Amino acid sequence: MNSNSSLFLSRRGFLLAAAGVAVSTSMRPARAAAVDERRIKVTPAHARLIDTGGPQTTVWAYDGTIPGPTLRLRQGQPVRITVENGLDEDTTVHWHGIRLANAMDGVPGLTQKPIGPGQSFVYEFTPPDAGTFWYHPHADSLVQIGRGLAGPLIVEEAEPVAVDRDFVWLLQDWRLAADGQIAGGFGSAMDASMSGRVGNVVTVNGTGPGDRSVKAGERVRLRLANASLARMMALRFEGHRPVVVAIDGQPCDPHEPEGGRLVLAPAMRIDIVLDMQGHPGSRHAVIDDFYDGLAYTLTTLAYDAAPPLRTHPLGTPAGLPRNPLPQPDLAGAERQEIVLQGGMMGGGKLKGVGGMIGMGMMGMNGGAAWAINGMSMTGDGHAGMAPQFTLKRGVTCHLTMRNETAWWHPMHVHGFSLSVISRNGSPVPHRQWQDTVLLAPKDVIECAFVADNPGDWMLHCHVADHQMAGLMTVFRVT
Ligand code: C2O
Ligand code: CU
Ligand code: CU
Repeated sequence: MNSNSSLFLSRRGFLLAAAGVAVSTSMRPARAAAVDERRIKVTPAHARLIDTGGPQTTVWAYDGTIPGPTLRLRQGQPVRITVENGLDEDTTVHWHGIRLANAMDGVPGLTQKPIGPGQSFVYEFTPPDAGTFWYHPHADSLVQIGRGLAGPLIVEEAEPVAVDRDFVWLLQDWRLAADGQIAGGFGSAMDASMSGRVGNVVTVNGTGPGDRSVKAGERVRLRLANASLARMMALRFEGHRPVVVAIDGQPCDPHEPEGGRLVLAPAMRIDIVLDMQGHPGSRHAVIDDFYDGLAYTLTTLAYDAAPPLRTHPLGTPAGLPRNPLPQPDLAGAERQEIVLQGGMMGGGKLKGVGGMIGMGMMGMNGGAAWAINGMSMTGDGHAGMAPQFTLKRGVTCHLTMRNETAWWHPMHVHGFSLSVISRNGSPVPHRQWQDTVLLAPKDVIECAFVADNPGDWMLHCHVADHQMAGLMTVFRVT
């Protein structure tokens, strides 16, 4: 498959490229050939999301757990994942952020036939990039992700990174009814045309706001992933100074976030290095204060009583090794523009969506509430989606995304990582690459990527309601 693309180097080739050296004796090509075999089953299940004392919440889950099992893969090692569908409806799995062959991307109609009830599908890929990713369905996404289908996908660096502990917090937002069950009303016109289905319970790895125990003096790598349908988050670690080392799986220059806030929109990931500088026995809240006046404690870091692991604080963490991303050539780039339109403006009016749309049908039953460049593609993906633009393989695409709406949109590109160049005319620092770029109302973002991976690729808002209601498009690389 695609053997002439830089994305699909063998492990041996990858190591050579990464190290920039001749073959060393430590290479074991025999091992490179070994395929990592995994199975995941999608089924209804029960989970104790919050302690109500009442019955558990009925959810949909990977292998019966919320979130799904953490898939820890190795950079450059082929993996084969068999997904079995035990639901009563079609599903697929999308490996969010992994640069892989188009046929493995999990978009129903566009890249594969959906996996019917009782059927399975075998996904095969070799992750070229180390980092923090996640997996989720791309069929009936609003309902399936909203009922719990999401799991962390970690690709380990060839050489382990020096930290005392490495763990992930997969964050999920749930809209629960008074009886503790998942509320109905998915895809309401209001959710679709405004901020999406924001819920009322947030879990960290499937549980409510309990304590996370930590040790004084330890250095941890914490991988944050926002698997919410719609909830934006801005996390503050009271009494701590997190250092961002990767965004959307891709290493960046280590830096402290502005105002100490980690802004994490749906589908985004941020890896931080956190030095536990609190006193033994102390407690520190982790607060999400994205929405004005709606701050809440996500969880609490609870130090155990043991004396500090080390007496002197460690220095600034070193950057992670960069992934083998092709460097955009801006001078020779092809320019494309994506304009985000629509949404409720107040007074029940939609802006910019195909002329007049009555209140009655807007965003309802798959109706459009949003558009990209005047076109509304709704749903999860289907056959025959005409590409918005076509790129010749190998060209650099200089992509401008312009948000003309009054709402926030985490715009996600399948199959590629984008080098983020500027936001509203100001250069974006820290050499950031992202697959999910958050646009505030009226933001203009410029980014670039090398179109080295052929196929039809999705580009959509990751607020699931927005995607379903038209904030989605497709581009082609030939
Ligand atoms: Cu996280 Cu279209 O995907
Ligand atoms: Cu994706
Ligand atoms: Cu959106």
